[in-house]
Amino acid sequence: MNTFWKTTLTIVLIGGLLACGGGNKPAHPPGTNAGTQVTDASTSEPSPKATGLITAADLQLGEEVDAAMAEKGKTTYDVKCQACHSTGANRVVGPGWQGLATKREPAWIMNMIMNIDVMLESDPEAQKLLEECLVRMPNQNLSKDEAREVLEFMRTL
Ligand code: HEC
Repeated sequence: MNTFWKTTLTIVLIGGLLACGGGNKPAHPPGTNAGTQVTDASTSEPSPKATGLITAADLQLGEEVDAAMAEKGKTTYDVKCQACHSTGANRVVGPGWQGLATKREPAWIMNMIMNIDVMLESDPEAQKLLEECLVRMPNQNLSKDEAREVLEFMRTL
């Protein structure tokens, strides 16, 4: 068993497949962890700064929804998102947006809008959605303000 795991891990590590896994691996048999961690350090995910991802610190959400912002966000939705996203629970090409703003972290949503390629490369949740939807969401090239307005619109759904 131990030898099996060591061999498996070695193959996985050589394949570089740990790039997204980080420290969240399931428990390994004793004796295999040390090697894993050393290698992890060299293949760990790039920091948010390096990838340009938005973090919670970059965002400010008011207690109440800002109606004017949400209205602008709806306009952007009508033009650039509606073809693939409903405002209900049903999937069109991508998932429906109902309740999304309470289900997901605001920064995660912003990154799905502005940095979809990085997210599909590195974020397990985004990758799960891709497996379900089988279409890569195209980058819609929204400015940060536009994305923020769409986020505000999502908070009304
Ligand atoms: C061509 C179809 C398409 C368009 C247009 C599109 N999306 Fe998407 N979107 C997807 C797909 C498909 C996914 C699931 C992830 C994947 O497969 O890439 C997704 C996922 C998302 C998610 C995550 C949803 C969840 O359930 O967590 C958000 C947020 C999102 N899109 C926002 C937007 C916004 C904002 C726009 C418009 C500016 C937009 N999308 C335009 C196809 C699209």
